[in-house]
Amino acid sequence: MTSRIKEDIEAIGKIGKDPRGGNSRPALSPEDIEARLYLIERMREAGLEVYVDDAANIIGVRKGRLKEPYVSTGSHVDTVMNGGIFDGVLGVVGGLETMRQLNEDRVETKFPMVLVVFTDEEGNSFMPFVGSKYFAGEISNELSDLKGKYELISFKDALERFLRRVEGKVKKIGRFPYALRNHVELHVEQGPILYQRKVQIGVVTGVVGVQRAWVEFTGRQAHAGSTPMDMRSDPMISAAKTIEKVREIAIQMDMVGTVGFVEVSPNVINVIPGKVRIGVDLRSLSKEDMKKAISSVVSYALESSSPEGVKVDVTEFFEEPVLCSPRVVEEVKRSSEEAGFSYMELPSRAVHDSQVMAKVTDVGMIFVPSRDGVSHAPEEWTEWEDCDRGQETLKRTLLSLQS
Ligand code: GLV
Ligand code: MN
Ligand code: MN
Repeated sequence: MTSRIKEDIEAIGKIGKDPRGGNSRPALSPEDIEARLYLIERMREAGLEVYVDDAANIIGVRKGRLKEPYVSTGSHVDTVMNGGIFDGVLGVVGGLETMRQLNEDRVETKFPMVLVVFTDEEGNSFMPFVGSKYFAGEISNELSDLKGKYELISFKDALERFLRRVEGKVKKIGRFPYALRNHVELHVEQGPILYQRKVQIGVVTGVVGVQRAWVEFTGRQAHAGSTPMDMRSDPMISAAKTIEKVREIAIQMDMVGTVGFVEVSPNVINVIPGKVRIGVDLRSLSKEDMKKAISSVVSYALESSSPEGVKVDVTEFFEEPVLCSPRVVEEVKRSSEEAGFSYMELPSRAVHDSQVMAKVTDVGMIFVPSRDGVSHAPEEWTEWEDCDRGQETLKRTLLSLQS
């Protein structure tokens, strides 16, 4: 067993422990910065040249005989609130361990390799995929408009706070200037398939897209006792009906749909709320279905709000579903087989930085089992042997993608 993987995951898992359970390390929070400092030290110890770009991505370079293109791996270390210790972290630590083993085996590669720790994959701080979207060139100036959701801080100030802590340890760059050959991400499955079927490695064929909408219902704040029922403009009623509709539409359209965020103002028992904001999250492998579903949700929100005299405002976020590269898929299969691990193909039903990276390079993902399929929860667990098998598959895949 690779005790270094366990040691690193446990060490990072101690950072940002939430008294309510699990880990809460929103991107660039003081806790996330502590986890980043830990990793930067380990990356430097592994002889990587460490860069930080304008999106706060941490980029560790292992030189090859050629200057570029790079064989790339990486994931994220920010967590959802009350999340687990493996989501994202395994991919980063697995990449780091791979670099260490290559050093120990004195492997000199033709193409250089890079380990990227992407910023705000979860989007709990600023926006989902801030780091990968910037790395892939999809956003630039947008960074200066980003504002913290849990902490009232601008992205620029959060970046500076991080940079102050790493001065002298990293090189600051604008954007990573080199081409990639491919990007491979190791991750826990976060669903039940591998665990239930007792399969060791998941060869990911594609990643679902995500369609989100922040729907804000504005009514009239008033007294819960003295306002007659027929003289109310209550946004909670329209929000509640819409939440129920999300589930109905998701089931009808064979996708998943969740409302995991509700904000009520002023959130007081004897006050009819003035505003209710909900976060709708729809996932599918079909972009068309997601577009249809969100438009049905929004139409329903408008319809059910108008008799209440409630106003509706919608802000959308969308990320495309992608297919993994057939070449990478083949190499992951071959690597699992050569290592003697059982494997199966499956799509990812969680979203990942790799789907953003697919816009600039060939991507693939390697999954390992999640106990009972649980993730985004304090109970998230993956056996250490499975972490090791994932890392071994990652190493073999990255090496095979050298040729
Ligand atoms: C990220 O983990 C997501 O699937 O939301
Ligand atoms: Mn996650
Ligand atoms: Mn993740």
